[in-house]
Amino acid sequence: MSRSKRKWDHIQLAMSTGQTRLAGFEDINFVHQSIPHTSLDQANINVEIGELSLSSPIFINGMTGGGGERTWRINRDLAIAAKALGLAVSVGSQMSALKDPSEISSYKIVRKEYPEGLIIGNLGSEATVDQAKAAIDMIEANALQIHLNVVQELTMPEGDRDFRSALQRIEEIVRSVNVPIIVKEVGFGMSKETVSMLKSVGVAAVDVGGFGGTNFARIENERRKRELPFFNEWGIPTAVSIAEAREVSGGITIFGTGGIQTSLDATKAIALGADAVGMAGFILGILLNEGIEALIEELHNLHDEIKMIMTALGASNIAELQKAPLIISGKTHHWLTERDIN
Ligand code: FNR
Repeated sequence: MSRSKRKWDHIQLAMSTGQTRLAGFEDINFVHQSIPHTSLDQANINVEIGELSLSSPIFINGMTGGGGERTWRINRDLAIAAKALGLAVSVGSQMSALKDPSEISSYKIVRKEYPEGLIIGNLGSEATVDQAKAAIDMIEANALQIHLNVVQELTMPEGDRDFRSALQRIEEIVRSVNVPIIVKEVGFGMSKETVSMLKSVGVAAVDVGGFGGTNFARIENERRKRELPFFNEWGIPTAVSIAEAREVSGGITIFGTGGIQTSLDATKAIALGADAVGMAGFILGILLNEGIEALIEELHNLHDEIKMIMTALGASNIAELQKAPLIISGKTHHWLTERDIN
């Protein structure tokens, strides 16, 4: 099967398998404050990520490129929406464009539409230093995501089967390129052990890519003759994964991602310890089903609602939201207690 066909299958299957609501946010409760000392028009949602200053705690996570005209259009529209709101935006895996230069334009369009944007490149952990440099140059990337997707590869009939030396390759890339490296999962979550290993090799940020939203085991199972049903429920829910990452992050940036669909999900993710939140499947669904104007409107609404939630909590900026007291119940509480995380 061609890569281009597989990319389009992924988009369609991501839409048809849909977004679950299993990321654990129902276990997280804010504590209402009746005298919050805040004013809605003073609520500030800017975030500082390392040296970078962003006007939103939301970014559009990596999805596509390299699948011909249709993915070119999706990336163009995501760039236009990101620009309208001042969001950072990531492209999907650039490996296909490194192998087939005819696919490059569907990635470059993001930089063309959003010249001043914070644009993030994307490769898998099989990438070499030279490939990482070429992916960064292709779109003048401000940062590079390296995705870890073991369960997706195992479920994918034509996927990788050898996962040795990934950490070593990531370390070599961190040492050799001059942009920050973000290591991300794709919907199975990151444990504190994983985050500790990534921190030890110098990555700038982790994107936890937790379980509970887009589910690549389900997507790949749709493409298999004999399913691997045990992987459909596999992974660390996003709420848990953010708390695990926060425990060991020691100052590296945490992107809370995986099943973020609402302003309440986003604020809970930040209060659990994320510095910013990424959305993928939810954003793609709005773009494909309702169009770019609807997507831009949704993003404006999300910003407005995040400000309202912050105001109710007495948080006038994102740093204060990160300190909002939380009550954690249910399965998430159980998980964190078993893992000895407070
Ligand atoms: C993805 N995702 C993804 N991630 C990545 O690192 N490289 C990629 O090429 C892709 N491709 C891709 C295609 C499609 C159609 C979707 C929906 C997603 C994964 C994505 O960045 C994110 O980690 C997960 O989708 C979890 O977030 P959501 O979708 O639950 O918000």
